[in-house]
Amino acid sequence: MWGKLYRLTRNELTHKAGTEPQRNLYGRRKGPKLRDRPARLMAELYPKLALPDSGPIIVEQRNWFEVGFGKGEHMVVNAQANPDVLCIGCEPYVNGMAACLGLIEDTGITNVRLYMGDALSVLERLPDASLEKIFVLHPDPWPKTRHVRRRFINEKPLAVMAAKLKAGGELRVGTDHEIYMEHSLMTISHKSFTWTAEAKKDWNIRPDDWPETRYEAWALGEGRPVWYLRFLRT
Ligand SMILES: C[S@@+](CC[C@H](N)C(=O)[O-])C[C@H]1O[C@@H](n2cnc3c(N)ncnc32)[C@H](O)[C@@H]1O
Repeated sequence: MWGKLYRLTRNELTHKAGTEPQRNLYGRRKGPKLRDRPARLMAELYPKLALPDSGPIIVEQRNWFEVGFGKGEHMVVNAQANPDVLCIGCEPYVNGMAACLGLIEDTGITNVRLYMGDALSVLERLPDASLEKIFVLHPDPWPKTRHVRRRFINEKPLAVMAAKLKAGGELRVGTDHEIYMEHSLMTISHKSFTWTAEAKKDWNIRPDDWPETRYEAWALGEGRPVWYLRFLRT
């Protein structure tokens, strides 16, 4: 497998990934019509927890950030286990956001802030060095070469994530897609991050403090491998 990591040279990768900002948001935003409870949660609870659409975002305490939380299972478990941390989560898919609001209401947590849209547009408005951890878990893989620019792990988002993480902060990338794993290692490893893995167990066993996500569970249930990649901001 390690040989394959170098299937693309860095120059080839830079050429394919490009250095232009990734401004478009791909993927679905709307799904089936919301039922009564999700519709109520979107109307009543979402506005209480939502971040503004524009302007600087003021944060004061310990902050963790999740990109594309799906239905929010990982973020909600993190928020429950770490009441002194503010968990900021972004998810453009309205049905995912509504499902997450259900978990938030069920658990009664208050240390979450939400944004229904592009995570990059929130990251850019946060103060530099304000985040302890960033989670990018099972991002849409966009496996075709012509779609490489659509991947969240790319030049522009990485530069923004590096700026917003504190020194020593952590970027976690989980994926069940081998191409995305290779792309992530090659794209991240020569930037402002150090990959923490020293042995196989460091990337093929989920750490205890890494709650399971829905896509991870699907992959494992189908017998597919999952990669758990942890990088420290240097
Ligand atoms: C494959 S799902 C994974 C969901 C969840 N993280 C999990 O592991 O179960 C990827 C999610 O990322 C979201 N997404 C895609 N682009 C995004 C972006 N630019 N900002 C925030 N979320 C994004 C999608 O809407 C989708 O819900």
